[in-house]
Amino acid sequence: MASRLSIPPARGEIWNYLASAYRDDLASDILAGMTAEQKHIPSKYFYDRRGSQLFEEICRLPEYYQTRLELSILRGACGAIMESFGEGDLVELGPGADPKISLLIEAAAEPGGRGIRYIPVDVSESALATATESLLRRYPQLQILGIVGDFTRDIGRIPRERKRLITFFGSTIGNFTASAANRILASVAAAMREGDRFLIGLDLVKPIPVLEAAYNDAAGVTAAFNKNVLAVINRELDADFDPGRFEHHAFFNKNLEQIEMHLVASEAMMVRIPALSLPVEFEQGETILTEISRKFTREGSGRFFEAAGLAVERWFSDPKGWFALAEVSL
Ligand code: SAH
Ligand code: AVI
Repeated sequence: MASRLSIPPARGEIWNYLASAYRDDLASDILAGMTAEQKHIPSKYFYDRRGSQLFEEICRLPEYYQTRLELSILRGACGAIMESFGEGDLVELGPGADPKISLLIEAAAEPGGRGIRYIPVDVSESALATATESLLRRYPQLQILGIVGDFTRDIGRIPRERKRLITFFGSTIGNFTASAANRILASVAAAMREGDRFLIGLDLVKPIPVLEAAYNDAAGVTAAFNKNVLAVINRELDADFDPGRFEHHAFFNKNLEQIEMHLVASEAMMVRIPALSLPVEFEQGETILTEISRKFTREGSGRFFEAAGLAVERWFSDPKGWFALAEVSL
């Protein structure tokens, strides 16, 4: 399904690979997640319109160092990256509403996005539309093909005509278990040819208080982001979760080197999900795991790329070694 944006002359198109599959996927994921020993919800369901807006707010929080650090690393690295890339397709996995790609577009040899086609792939249609409209306005020569899709299964469907630089910012790869992340990297590798590059942001292991503060901000935005996933399930599956009866809980799991975000039932309760004919029982204190956010080391991530047939060409980091951008090739 393709829709054309209103910006003339048709430089922007959005294809939807999810369409009706979104609700079916949600239904089967929630059925699996609510019947598991440790209840869980895949983190991709955070990002409806409100969830995407809340994530934008998270990026501006004083405690959430990731966005500012990655942008400053990218500012320093974008000239070198675009110099070796030249022209072609810039593919971005999970760009959100305010994509970091603009730094790369500005560092390209030709001004205004000339010679570049930008292909963002995101499950959030609202984030994709916001990003696309604003980039088309900002860069008068840029072509955009937006794909509403799931990068865990749609990378192989991205149309290919030219050389590619695939980007995956924000350390979103950390929101996947090691085996799921390996599958994503393997599908990125399968979508690359000799000379293509992959640029990926990685949040690195650092002092625990810094990590835990980033997911427990004083303003409570991360808590609202976490609870918003219950509103998504209520709306899409007609469920009756009461977000007021769940508490946000985020902590660093040292053994697994990951932040875990949970929603904790503040009392025993029964939740109905009529679309699944499913009553879900909660004991007081029982949790739903809503997100993992793995933190990396340079050595560990090297092994992780190697396992997918990829090699790190350049490693860009900040002076404290808190965040890194790895430029990777086949
Ligand atoms: N890259 C941005 C946004 C990160 S938030 C940044 O660095 O700030 C994560 C983004 O990935 C959201 O826009 C979300 O909708 C998208 N996303 C999460 N899981 C996804 C999946 N499986 N397929 C496609 N997009 C996904
Ligand atoms: C998108 N992702 C990398 C964010 C993270 O830090 O894991 C999502 C997020 N969750 C809570 N705050 C931000």
